[in-house]
Amino acid sequence: MSDIQLFSPVSIRDVTLRNRIVVPPMHQYSAVKGFPTDWHLMNAGKFAAGGAGLVIVESTKVERRGCGTVGDLGIWDDCFIEPLRRLATFIRQQNAVAGIQLGHSGRKARANRPWEGDGPLQRTTEIDDWDAWTPVAPSAIAHSEKWPAPRALETQEVKDLVEAWGQAARRADAAGFDALELHGAHGYLVHEFLSERSNQRTDSYGGSEANRMRFLIEVAEAVRQHWPAGKPLFVRLSVEDNAGWGPEQSAKLAAILKTRGVDVIDCSSGGITDVAPILGKEIKYNYQVPLADYVRRHADIMTMAVGLIIHGDQAEQILQNGQADLIAVGREILNNPNWPMDAALKMGADGPFRNVPPQFGYWLGTRDKRGFGTKPSTWQVGLDVGMDVGHEETRKLL
Ligand SMILES: Cc1cc2nc3c(=O)[nH]c(=O)nc-3n(C[C@H](O)[C@H](O)[C@H](O)COP(=O)(O)O)c2cc1C
Repeated sequence: MSDIQLFSPVSIRDVTLRNRIVVPPMHQYSAVKGFPTDWHLMNAGKFAAGGAGLVIVESTKVERRGCGTVGDLGIWDDCFIEPLRRLATFIRQQNAVAGIQLGHSGRKARANRPWEGDGPLQRTTEIDDWDAWTPVAPSAIAHSEKWPAPRALETQEVKDLVEAWGQAARRADAAGFDALELHGAHGYLVHEFLSERSNQRTDSYGGSEANRMRFLIEVAEAVRQHWPAGKPLFVRLSVEDNAGWGPEQSAKLAAILKTRGVDVIDCSSGGITDVAPILGKEIKYNYQVPLADYVRRHADIMTMAVGLIIHGDQAEQILQNGQADLIAVGREILNNPNWPMDAALKMGADGPFRNVPPQFGYWLGTRDKRGFGTKPSTWQVGLDVGMDVGHEETRKLL
């Protein structure tokens, strides 16, 4: 057990994370007709083996119309359970908690992959269900002038969608995931209901703030009916969206969600317009941490901080300050899938290799014990040791 908070375990309901490090959901744009590929196994697997406490698989769509790109993962049918189980099983085998994010892209569905150009996809004959893949949203309001207007959902369709999220949660459980996150951020369907910019409905899902929150609250209730009581439920919110929604509303919503069985708010921002709240401000380390701090204090709920958290001691300070309970490391863990082990070494944590599999942890630990420290400050000493023990001894260590 380490006294560094980042490496201290945390229990949420019946599930224990071995440390506070979370791999946030990150689309891979690599599914085939919604099914995961070997890429997904490799991707999630390397993060789990790298020592993270929780690995959350990317936004996986609760219905076909909700797919953002041709490469989105799906969970809208029972046929997805077995292929997804392979990911969950492998993550668990590495002693990480297996999580998955459920999502629906709403009016931002049917888009290009980011590296193929921003914005909506052009009609192509390669997509055999183009017309069935019509973007839907609370109101027929386009995301921006670059995007086509979506079709507004009928009231009954909204109710059907609530149940689709519930069924998706049931499948995630059946596939062996132990943590679930609902994607309520970044200008996708749930966020579109929350924002008065995109929601101008006149039924009980639009108008007042309480009405605009209704969809997410009903989704959380439906999910909780199908998601075991012992397993944690996260919701990702754009706590601030630069279009009328801010920390006060988010904290109010978080407090309601807590009463519906939500355990953690994953605090992100932006996405409802093309202008994220961070634009126009200085983008810096920890830029979303104040949002996690605000929600944590005002809604009395666990929060996860995310966004340009890159260094171990930076993450530790957020925890020590009591600004968040969990730390998500996104792009930096793409750079270094062994980030948790690397941070443990750099911070001098006890047993820096204890969270990684023996296939490499054993050998790194042996090398470390022999004085060939991996800490940056010890490499000069290590070089001297190598020279002293001579050629043969050095070879044994390699
Ligand atoms: C390649 C990529 C894919 C992403 N996909 C998702 C996603 O599926 N769901 C989501 O909520 N956020 C997604 N995000 C946002 C990340 O989860 C994270 O919030 C963001 O990258 C900021 O954290 P960072 O600075 O540590 O990277 C994605 C980010 C990247 C870089």
